[in-house]
Amino acid sequence: MFQLVEGLVKEKILELLKKKTYVSGSELSRKFNLSRTAVWKHIKALRRKGYVVEAKPRQGYRLVKTPDLLLPVEIKAELKTKIFGKKIFHFNEVTSTQEVAKKLATQGFEEGTVVVAEKQSKGKGRVGREWVSPLGGVWLSIILKPNILPHQAQKITLVVAVAVANVIRRLYGLDAKIKWPNDVLIDKKKVCGILVEASGEVDRLNYMVVGVGVNLNVNPATVESKLVKTATSISEILGREVSKVEFTREFLVEFEKLYKLFGSGGFNQILEEWKKLSETLGCKVKIVSQNEVFVGEALDVDEEGFLLVKLPNGFVKKVVSGDVYVRKV
Ligand code: BTN
Repeated sequence: MFQLVEGLVKEKILELLKKKTYVSGSELSRKFNLSRTAVWKHIKALRRKGYVVEAKPRQGYRLVKTPDLLLPVEIKAELKTKIFGKKIFHFNEVTSTQEVAKKLATQGFEEGTVVVAEKQSKGKGRVGREWVSPLGGVWLSIILKPNILPHQAQKITLVVAVAVANVIRRLYGLDAKIKWPNDVLIDKKKVCGILVEASGEVDRLNYMVVGVGVNLNVNPATVESKLVKTATSISEILGREVSKVEFTREFLVEFEKLYKLFGSGGFNQILEEWKKLSETLGCKVKIVSQNEVFVGEALDVDEEGFLLVKLPNGFVKKVVSGDVYVRKV
């Protein structure tokens, strides 16, 4: 309880610092019923978080710089969503936001709860692979409780990919594409990976955790791994760093919009958008799944989100999961 109140006071102080050029110590102590020492303690705590707050005798405190960290108070400012991001957990470093979000989901945290981290020490990629997550990226997981059956979870992965691609296109004017099912690529290099994990029984879904990792301001060479052979990042392409907070806010808005559309029966509309953004359809592909490797032509994605591949013998095979490699013809 004490912690929460402390946090709230800090948020209120920050709000005021953002509104006015100088805020005097006496104004802060009067407004929030704090001693001058307590005010100073809060200012020091803000500085420790990365805010640059100048203190001038007789004038007071001035906010000089806001850090581009995924702090809940920054993401929530002007966040135009109804449910996504109403509750945000932030970590400077965590093993995996996915693991934290799953724990929160089992504790009953509501749909739309978000977990973000500046850095992950054990980031998780698809099929248990490692996901390298240094400072500079957006590493985020969100709890969902959609009214679908577990085998329909695949559809959500396509919805997330469309949301990420749309935001990259809109904010930075870059030609983001999607490789089935949900890698977001720019110039054929991976800029974002999406991991969707579901918990439930065959006929009942308890919750889903959607993990999104976006290379915003990272050096691509530092995130390449066995999983990601060729990576890119927004900062590398644009030649400048971009705001992680702005990206996160826009993503939550876009994803919530598409998720609502999905919930009201609009999956086909989203699938059409996915197809327009697809880097896979119409290409010769090699599919590497758990049990087999085969080649063919990526024909279409069906209404469940599965990839339809035409084999050299003319048969059409439904691909439920696996890695897709687009081949040069
Ligand atoms: C992939 O392409 O293999 C999926 C990568 C997903 C990475 C994100 S980063 C945020 C969330 N936390 C994790 O540990 N993984 C996902």
